[in-house]
Amino acid sequence: MATAALSREPQIGVTAHVPLPTDKAAFDAAIVDPDSYANEERYHAIFKYLREEAPVYWCEPEGYRPFWTVSRHADIRRVELDNETFLNDPRLTLATIADEERIMALTGGNKLTRNLVSMDNPDHKHFRAMTQGYFSPKHMKQLEEDIRALARDSVEHMAALGDRCDFAAEVAIWFPLRVIMLTLGAPREDEQFLMKITQEVFGAQDFDHMRPEEMGGLFATIAEFNAWCDRITADRKANPREDVSTIIANATLTDGSPMGNMEAMSYYLIIAAAGHDTTSSSTSAGLLELIRNPAEMQKLRDDPSLLPNAVEEMIRWASPVKHFFRTAAKDAEVGGVPIKAGDGLVMAYPSANRDTAVFDDPFTFRVDRANVRQHLAFGYGPHLCLGQHLAKLEMRILFEELLARFDDFELAGDPSWTRASFVSGMKHLPIRYRAK
Ligand code: HEM
Repeated sequence: MATAALSREPQIGVTAHVPLPTDKAAFDAAIVDPDSYANEERYHAIFKYLREEAPVYWCEPEGYRPFWTVSRHADIRRVELDNETFLNDPRLTLATIADEERIMALTGGNKLTRNLVSMDNPDHKHFRAMTQGYFSPKHMKQLEEDIRALARDSVEHMAALGDRCDFAAEVAIWFPLRVIMLTLGAPREDEQFLMKITQEVFGAQDFDHMRPEEMGGLFATIAEFNAWCDRITADRKANPREDVSTIIANATLTDGSPMGNMEAMSYYLIIAAAGHDTTSSSTSAGLLELIRNPAEMQKLRDDPSLLPNAVEEMIRWASPVKHFFRTAAKDAEVGGVPIKAGDGLVMAYPSANRDTAVFDDPFTFRVDRANVRQHLAFGYGPHLCLGQHLAKLEMRILFEELLARFDDFELAGDPSWTRASFVSGMKHLPIRYRAK
């Protein structure tokens, strides 16, 4: 097996303020520890060290199958682009060996659902093509008015709450869910149910902290969602509409046969889950950075045409998807390091987005950062986020409405972050504001 790529052990202490573990076992444990992802300084100290000292690093945390951690922008792009050599299906996200075994015992395979992000070609190409047109910038533009109405509802809700709220829990978590429901054509009364689905599915990625009986609960939730999907599929077959559910319900496989219920359910689920916490985390992180950097907030107030660029910077800054895996189908090389067939690689997106080889002064939040579109928060290559245009559109509209309606945003307490090594972001963001 491959050996550790650390060039100098155990000199792992890195930044001025965050001491890092000095032995390999503790350092590797920190890479997979969900707490590292709830603490921005700690996360960035770990990955800054890796980018500088061991950009393709063999990580062997106790309780996990070992893997390479890829932390530089250029190396992640190289892995993402070559989807013949680096596959999605075998291993998608970090899970303990115990949880991988539990999933195997329950499903006979390595995953609970079979969706776009865990597919390789030829299926990936075929399944992606089904909805690519729906999520194109041109088609998303047609949703602008409806999305603006949802954004105004959110802003009016904030006004009704008075001069303060927990922006993450009371606003940012709901708005993207309603936007996703708009694309799915889901009725408003399903909101609480769909909230539960997306939260439990992403919560479930943190198997590390899941008791066996909770795993059973997750299966019950997925069964409930299955029934919901079967109803929507039957309805859209009988009564086609202008929503993405109609496309999924009526899609066919490469051989022309109708898509099975498992595939349809997985497709609805990936859209609902992938489009939710990612966008809400980026929105909360964006508002927090505008509050922390009043000069940047002022730039947006002076020149609202900067908003699309500002939204990209918010997404670069937040990078809510902390990693995805790829698995080498054959022997390869990344960043000069030999990779063996079968090795797993973690692509650390937030790390790529702080890489000084691409971004000047990457730890400074700048709404007018010139090359911000090179960020990898949406991934890169054939699996590049399908919903990126939707995410950017809805965030732009929400910030237009927020800035038009309120002044004097400030923090009203300590923000906090969720503990999860896959998708994580802001849990609480207490703020104060003044209606104009
Ligand atoms: C894939 C991030 C919003 C749907 C991905 C990937 C990332 C990502 C990192 C994996 C890309 C790769 O492997 O190269 C984000 C972020 C978002 C966001 C940061 C918000 C700021 C959305 C929304 C939707 C969505 C709103 C709704 C449709 C998907 C789907 C995939 C995906 C379906 C799988 C694409 C594939 O494998 O071909 N996203 N996403 N995402 N995202 Fe997003």
